[in-house]
Amino acid sequence: MLTQAQLIDPQARSLTLKISRYNPEVDEKPHWEEYKVEADGHDRVLDVIQKVKWEQDDTLSLRRSCAHGVCGSDAMRINGMNGLACKILVKNLKSDTLTLEPILGLPVIKDLIVDMKPFFDHYKAVMPFLINDEPPPTTERLQSPAERARFDDSTKCILCACCTTACPPFWGDRKYVGPAAIVNAHRFIFDSRDRGAAERLEILNDAEGVWRCRTVFNCTSACPRDIKVTQTISEVKRALMTGNIDLDAVQTVEIGH
Ligand code: SF4
Ligand code: SF4
Ligand code: FES
Repeated sequence: MLTQAQLIDPQARSLTLKISRYNPEVDEKPHWEEYKVEADGHDRVLDVIQKVKWEQDDTLSLRRSCAHGVCGSDAMRINGMNGLACKILVKNLKSDTLTLEPILGLPVIKDLIVDMKPFFDHYKAVMPFLINDEPPPTTERLQSPAERARFDDSTKCILCACCTTACPPFWGDRKYVGPAAIVNAHRFIFDSRDRGAAERLEILNDAEGVWRCRTVFNCTSACPRDIKVTQTISEVKRALMTGNIDLDAVQTVEIGH
């Protein structure tokens, strides 16, 4: 039988939210708690979580900021898959039960909030900034459209960690640098204005670098920005094997001194 909400909005749904709860001050380990929520067709997963927090249980903890798929702070496991809660529409859910857990492989601080420090430590380790000690030209450091396009995909990363925390080699010990750090290294390795490619490639040639990737594509499926993460990793591996950072074989780097 249709609920009153469904009579007004045919895409409205009665959802059961199963949320992983953990408060380190009182809980020994995480446990599930269930909440019933009436959702509108245009609601996103973030909206229904906030309905729980604002209307039923204000102790529920989660991160969010922009609510528009830009800041990357509301990454979580939604029905077993990593994603941004603000980008998934309720009307597209396959089931009326919604399971919500923190992303895997990082220490849980409380409920859906994880400690992102290990993730950002790997990010910082690849020097994700422009390196160029050459005297600046009188105008900008010019770049052709083709040179800009070379790293266009990797520049879309919002550091949400959906990829790295979907990656089995990362779950084990968090030592693997992880796909997000490699994407952000790629962003600068293949930038024609940058001169730090060799240094970054040496870092990624480490035992905990790109070679721990098993090319299982979890990362690509998890990326809310549709970045071809595994292809990015393959391009970095190829640069390491060939010493060539230009697809047209123009620019080469010396790796391993
Ligand atoms: S393709 Fe590599 S980096 Fe991506 S999830 Fe699989 S092992 Fe991890
Ligand atoms: S590559 Fe995609 S999934 Fe990984 S951190 Fe960047 S935006 Fe998130
Ligand atoms: S809240 Fe910013 S990406 Fe979802």
